[in-house]
Amino acid sequence: MEMVVLENEPEVLMENISNKGNRDTSAAPGLKLYRCVAVSFGLLCIIQVALNISLRLSLERDNLRKLNSDYEAGTKNLTEERDELKGKLNDYISGNEAKIKTLTGERDELKRRLDVLISGNEGKIKTLTGERDELKRRLDVLISGHGAEIKTLTGERGELRRRLDESQSQQNALIRERDELKRTLNDFDQLFQKGWEYFHSSFYYISSTEKTWQESRDDCVSRGANLMIIDSQEEQDFTRRFPKRMWIGLTDRAQEGTWRWVDGTLLQRSYWYSGEPNDEWGEEDCAEINYKDVENSWNDMPCDRQIHWICEKKMAP
Ligand code: BGC
Ligand code: CA
Repeated sequence: MEMVVLENEPEVLMENISNKGNRDTSAAPGLKLYRCVAVSFGLLCIIQVALNISLRLSLERDNLRKLNSDYEAGTKNLTEERDELKGKLNDYISGNEAKIKTLTGERDELKRRLDVLISGNEGKIKTLTGERDELKRRLDVLISGHGAEIKTLTGERGELRRRLDESQSQQNALIRERDELKRTLNDFDQLFQKGWEYFHSSFYYISSTEKTWQESRDDCVSRGANLMIIDSQEEQDFTRRFPKRMWIGLTDRAQEGTWRWVDGTLLQRSYWYSGEPNDEWGEEDCAEINYKDVENSWNDMPCDRQIHWICEKKMAP
């Protein structure tokens, strides 16, 4: 392939091209037109470049101008701020100078007055120290002269203190006792008002309605008591005051033939009516006061029978 050498002259270039591409030299007017277009295009390119450069320069100039004016404004602001701060600093310094001067004056005045005070008190302190030493000396003389007396008095004071402590604790014990008695009295009062009877350190409640043995026991418990436990001849005699059939707190429900009181203790001294307990109905596991006109008044009964009952609430003797 043959190489085409590009020359600076567009005419030569165009000629070369036209000579290679088209050997027909008869096309001269077309060539001229072609040259004209190429030259115009070249000029346009040059103008375009010139315009671009001038536009770019104009933009750069504007930017520089703007930067310059910003910089000038910033410098102006900074200068103003610096001047303002300078003014403030001066004011502050001059204000504090006056204060320092005042405070220094006050301090000097206080120092002077303190000196005056100290020098005035030195005399007083000396006098007071002397007086104190004299009093101490006289007290020593007094103590040594009345040593025995002071010993006796100290001993008496100790004894009095001991007796005071003793009577104080006695008084405290009395207060406790009084409060306890007040509570007891209040309890008694309440129980009497509710119809309970007092006998040999216990209160007794005789029901006005009839219930089974278990219901009767539950009722006594709800009153802070239990079915009656008879553990003395006097108590047994006491039951004869009430002409009623009444459940007492005695049962052999847990083990047939083994009678126990409701507090779990085994029956010791009994007051069965003759022939009792006979377990007549095959299952008579609860005890009642039945035969009120005799000393031995107990009978065993089916627990589900409904009769009156007697509760007992033991009080501290
Ligand atoms: C008997 C008692 C028995 C009672 C039951 C009486 O006749 O003597 O032993 O417990 O009847 O209701
Ligand atoms: Ca019986």
